[in-house]
Amino acid sequence: MSVWAVLAAAGRGERLGSDRPKAFARLGGRPLLAESLERLEESGWIDAIVIAAPPDWEEPSILVAEEIAATKVSSAVTGGDSRSESVRLALAEVPEDAAVVLVHDAARPLLPEEVIERVLAPLSDGWDGVVPTVPLADTVKRVEGDRVVETLARDDLVAVQTPQAFLADALRRAVAGDVSAATDCASLVESQGGRVKVVEGDSRLLKVTDADDLALVESWLA
Ligand code: C5P
Repeated sequence: MSVWAVLAAAGRGERLGSDRPKAFARLGGRPLLAESLERLEESGWIDAIVIAAPPDWEEPSILVAEEIAATKVSSAVTGGDSRSESVRLALAEVPEDAAVVLVHDAARPLLPEEVIERVLAPLSDGWDGVVPTVPLADTVKRVEGDRVVETLARDDLVAVQTPQAFLADALRRAVAGDVSAATDCASLVESQGGRVKVVEGDSRLLKVTDADDLALVESWLA
């Protein structure tokens, strides 16, 4: 059973305020992309990797892979206008005989091997997808403008991270339609009637959005 990873790295990362895309922001002296790429490369579960790179950053992405000797990287494709578009474009490079696809955000540089294992394991028990989650610390409200319209029952809610693992066929079907409104791949699989399981995530899978996040992740690496 071959397991392919799609690394979504094509975001612009405007909130970082850098002159380069987020995947190329510096983290511990090297591009952010190198961190998750290295963890995928070293994972005993992953056979091959496709990177969705920002336009004009395909070549630099391959150079990052070469610098860290990430020999599992098969290609770096040009990403799309949204994360889901980028995943769709990268998935087109995954061979038909791949059984499982793991989708990960390059913006979450610290990728524990045990989370990769946790999201992959249930796929052999009949699940179409598996997502790592963490409990919500804050109360969540639905608002319209500046008015609260609903307070949601926190016990039923979780925050969802990546890596997310899917049976390759389920993910292919999910990204074949309109993906513009989706913020993660699992929601597309769910809307196709796919069964998605939740497993425990990890606080280290923090998504780097601004300079403070970058500094925090850097302090964890030190
Ligand atoms: O923008 P955000 O941080 O939520 O993006 C999550 C992940 O999706 C990031 O790793 C980013 O590089 C990726 N992405 C992408 N293509 C886009 C937008 C975001 O691959 N068009």
